[in-house]
Amino acid sequence: MTTKVTAAVEFAQENKGRFVEELKELLRIPSISTDPERAGDVRRAAEFVAAELKRIGMENVRLIETSTAKHPSGHPLVYADWLHAELAADGKPKPTVLCYGHYDVQPAEPLDEWKSPPFEPTERDGNLYARGAVDDKGQMWMHVKGLESLMVAGGGKLPVNVRVIVEGEEEVGGEGIASYVRTHGEQLKADVALVSDTEMFAAELPTLCVGLRGMIYTEIEARGARTDLHSGMYGGAAPNPFVALSQVIAKLKDEDGKILIPGFYDNVEKPTDAELKAWKALPFDEEHYRESEVGSISLTGEPGLSVLERTWARPTLDVHGMPGGFIGAGAKTVIPAKAVAKVSMRLVPDMTPAESFAKYKAYVESLTPKGIVLEVRLIHSGDPIVVSTDNEFVKAATEAMREVFGKETVFVRGGGSIPIVGDFVRELKTPTVMMGFGLPDDNLHAPNEKFHLANFHRGIESIVRFLSGVGG
Ligand code: BES
Ligand code: MN
Ligand code: MN
Repeated sequence: MTTKVTAAVEFAQENKGRFVEELKELLRIPSISTDPERAGDVRRAAEFVAAELKRIGMENVRLIETSTAKHPSGHPLVYADWLHAELAADGKPKPTVLCYGHYDVQPAEPLDEWKSPPFEPTERDGNLYARGAVDDKGQMWMHVKGLESLMVAGGGKLPVNVRVIVEGEEEVGGEGIASYVRTHGEQLKADVALVSDTEMFAAELPTLCVGLRGMIYTEIEARGARTDLHSGMYGGAAPNPFVALSQVIAKLKDEDGKILIPGFYDNVEKPTDAELKAWKALPFDEEHYRESEVGSISLTGEPGLSVLERTWARPTLDVHGMPGGFIGAGAKTVIPAKAVAKVSMRLVPDMTPAESFAKYKAYVESLTPKGIVLEVRLIHSGDPIVVSTDNEFVKAATEAMREVFGKETVFVRGGGSIPIVGDFVRELKTPTVMMGFGLPDDNLHAPNEKFHLANFHRGIESIVRFLSGVGG
């Protein structure tokens, strides 16, 4: 057994260069799931992943088409399995691990802020820069390369049973995979899910993420006049949808970051004392965070709560953009007929997307300014989740990372969302291990996204050791 782990780790080390070159090929495919014009590229990325899973010896490799009310022709899932692990010494079957990742990426805008183009992966100072480098193509590729290394070292056999599911809609809410889990849950039956789509708390610090915020992503559309109007001829008599939206938005949150939607905090659970104590012990320098991660003149949010508590265990509300009106160069004197605000809220246990959205919608509608018709739409949503740490799989993960990093693992929550994790835990009853290798300065969703290549390789080794450990 141990010799096989060593052989797999050696194989991964000897093939480092090739692994990175393959990842670059995948990163050149602009699989932006939110952009309908990129649907062909999204599919190409799925096919690329499927072809490699097949090549390394996984079985039943296939694309699973997805279709939901919102995305009738959704992006495909990639599925593969290998379910022939030898019985354990006691005659029991080996566990099955479900490896999850996503091959879709966020849009790359603003393009002029990238030092090298987002879909031309470029190495600089030990980092690989590209959209999707760490979120999540690079981390998903660690799973594939970990499996390849184990396959080769095991002469075509893995130490555990493995299923792989890779989705192409995570960045747009993951409705396709959620509906697949609900209708074909038995196809993903596993003892544990391994998710590599989160961050390390700090460089060199092995980290397991044990909680994620949920979210509701919404649009508020405001309509005033029938058509765009001359602002001199009609200004003073015609309603302005941008002003209306600003008035609404200004009433959603106060200066202290408190959300003003009635009842919004009703189901917010306080982190346990043990969690709060553990978070206090994490190496966190608020001033460094403000200066080098956020880069603003000061931080905002609810007074009396730490940054970690505010970003991990409290709901929040943000405005992402307000399409409409005149945004060209120069000036145009127009009262736009309509305007849209994209507004999302992050949720924490035990808030639910449905109830939170209902409260939000009712409140927004109650704020409707004179002369304006508002429409409040839900674009997508996902549940918040806290996973259990009291199981053998978490132990296997911390042991694997201790061998790779020579350090004890810290347990953190993440402020971001991975909608399907809630379904793995609640729907499939599969304990989930979130072992991620991003860094706080990897620029997820931002210009100059990168993956620190040392972490790509350490991630592969950690996954090799984790899968071997779970296999006994
Ligand atoms: N990988 C992220 C989520 C993440 C990042 C969790 C860092 C923990 C730490 C994921 O790809 C993501 O960005 N999710 C979206 C989900 C949304 C579009 C439903 C998010 O959080 O905005
Ligand atoms: Mn991700
Ligand atoms: Mn993301």
